[in-house]
Amino acid sequence: MSEHIHTETRDRIAHIELRRLDKKNALTADMYQAMADALRAAESDAQVRVVLIHGSAECFCAGNDLKDFLEKPPHGDDSPVFQFLLAISSATKPIVAAVGGPAVGIGTTMLLHCDLVYAAADARFQLPFVPLGITPEASSSLLLPMGAGFQRAAELLLLGQPFDAAKAHGAGFVTEVVDKTAVLERARAAAAQLAALPPTSVRLTKSLMKRRHAQAVQEHMHLESLTFRERLGSPEAKEAMSAFFEKRKPDFSRF
Ligand code: COA
Repeated sequence: MSEHIHTETRDRIAHIELRRLDKKNALTADMYQAMADALRAAESDAQVRVVLIHGSAECFCAGNDLKDFLEKPPHGDDSPVFQFLLAISSATKPIVAAVGGPAVGIGTTMLLHCDLVYAAADARFQLPFVPLGITPEASSSLLLPMGAGFQRAAELLLLGQPFDAAKAHGAGFVTEVVDKTAVLERARAAAAQLAALPPTSVRLTKSLMKRRHAQAVQEHMHLESLTFRERLGSPEAKEAMSAFFEKRKPDFSRF
């Protein structure tokens, strides 16, 4: 349970809504746990045909809570963030996402595990792992080069700068760019369309599309998590994250 994650099943669609707007929907351990629980519940509930993940029109998700990174870094593969990643990456039911405003870090990488992603024209994506002194997660260092091509992925993952919805569409993980006011409705309509289709056919088709890389994705995610946890304790990461809260530019010249 988390007061910042609202879940509701309506018309065979399990809605997962991020509601921590004062912190730009940055994800805490409780929020990851609630999302992992909601995804697992959706998997086992025969009434649910599809999952819809969204934030508000102004903000999808600012990634992991950076305070948590500094004070309560994730430990093992059983930590809430890894449970969430396991649940989203191995879900057999389709997942639709509606993205408006910032989608940073895991706010972007979780989309690589969604099936249909609708982004508002003003959505701002970013994979700032390197600028934060850490390394990619959610198997993004495998899935992004695979989907976007190496150089396009390298630009997004090495430079780690914000990019717009058109670029995300070009990188292959946004299905359609829609007007800001229509994004949630567009995603709901697609979820409703999926919910009305023969459920076994939908699940089997998703599983056939994912089968070839399913094991590699899980192995890669585990490998990434080892490096990621090591990097979280590094002086480079501490400098980058302290600089964010002190509202200053980080200085990596001494490393
Ligand atoms: N963790 C913790 N707090 C966060 C956060 C995060 N990931 N992202 C935003 N916040 C907090 C800010 O500290 C600020 O809190 P305050 O009001 O107490 O000062 C509040 O949310 C609003 O953020 P702000 O930066 O003022 O909003 P913005 O509209 O100018 O920018 C973002 C939005 C998302 C672009 C910017 O907040 C950002 O870059 N956040 C960090 C993203 C990040 O690096 N995530 C980790 C990826 S691995």
